[in-house]
Amino acid sequence: MKGVVGAGVLAGAGTGAAAALGTATAPIGSGGGITKFVGIENTDGPAPRGMPVIPVEIADDGTIQGLWPEVKTKEEAGQTFEVAETELGGVTYSSEWFQYCGVQTYSGIQPSADQDNAFLSSADSPYEWQAEIPEGEPLNVSMFDDYKNFDTGVGRPGLGKPAMATWRSKDVEASETIPVQVVRSDDVIEMRQQDGPIAEFIRAATTETGFMAWLDKCTHFCCVPAFKAYPDSAKFNAENKVYCQCHQSVYAPYSWVQKSFVALPRPEPESGGSGE
Ligand code: FES
Repeated sequence: MKGVVGAGVLAGAGTGAAAALGTATAPIGSGGGITKFVGIENTDGPAPRGMPVIPVEIADDGTIQGLWPEVKTKEEAGQTFEVAETELGGVTYSSEWFQYCGVQTYSGIQPSADQDNAFLSSADSPYEWQAEIPEGEPLNVSMFDDYKNFDTGVGRPGLGKPAMATWRSKDVEASETIPVQVVRSDDVIEMRQQDGPIAEFIRAATTETGFMAWLDKCTHFCCVPAFKAYPDSAKFNAENKVYCQCHQSVYAPYSWVQKSFVALPRPEPESGGSGE
């Protein structure tokens, strides 16, 4: 119940009412406030901005995982709190990127949460190929060998192989599951060649073998969109993009942009979390 109520109410604050929170955010929580982030671009529909990317790392055994920033203590407005924050490719990558849509209340988003960073195969995937992968199995590079001409059945083949995953959500309530989308594509390899203000970050947050990931929570009202998964996306010219079925927001996964938003503060931790 907590998750559902929180997500709805806070989603409103994260969009329309966000500006009212202003720079002095943090009266009753940890972190938050105006936050610069890098996301996949929102190109159509009512979503106010892109969805934040998650830098990808490949472990020695081929497990695909999301980089979790370094846990630090920060002081702001007389309050001390923990934040996970790392400089990466000239960009400050922070756990605050994910503090919207109620995610800021999830235990896995607490900076020092005892969670593994592997992307785990999701039971709610719209992609047929994942039906063969047991729920919770770590995604591995070997599962993406056929990415080059992969066909999801929606849009054009050859734009990459997508997967639906969960992240930092082991043994948490279902309402606190963090949805993530992972893709391997030659378009990612191409994106790594480009110049521009966030080029170095793009190279640091993707892999040479074409993997990338993002937090898959629509910035409009928090539905879970998908890349090349829903036939009805074609009606909105989104069959080759990430499409949200709730109100037709569209995102371009291979176009990354840097934007700001007002990250919501995490609630005061009941245990662990911030120091004093
Ligand atoms: S477009 Fe409304 S929740 Fe995604």
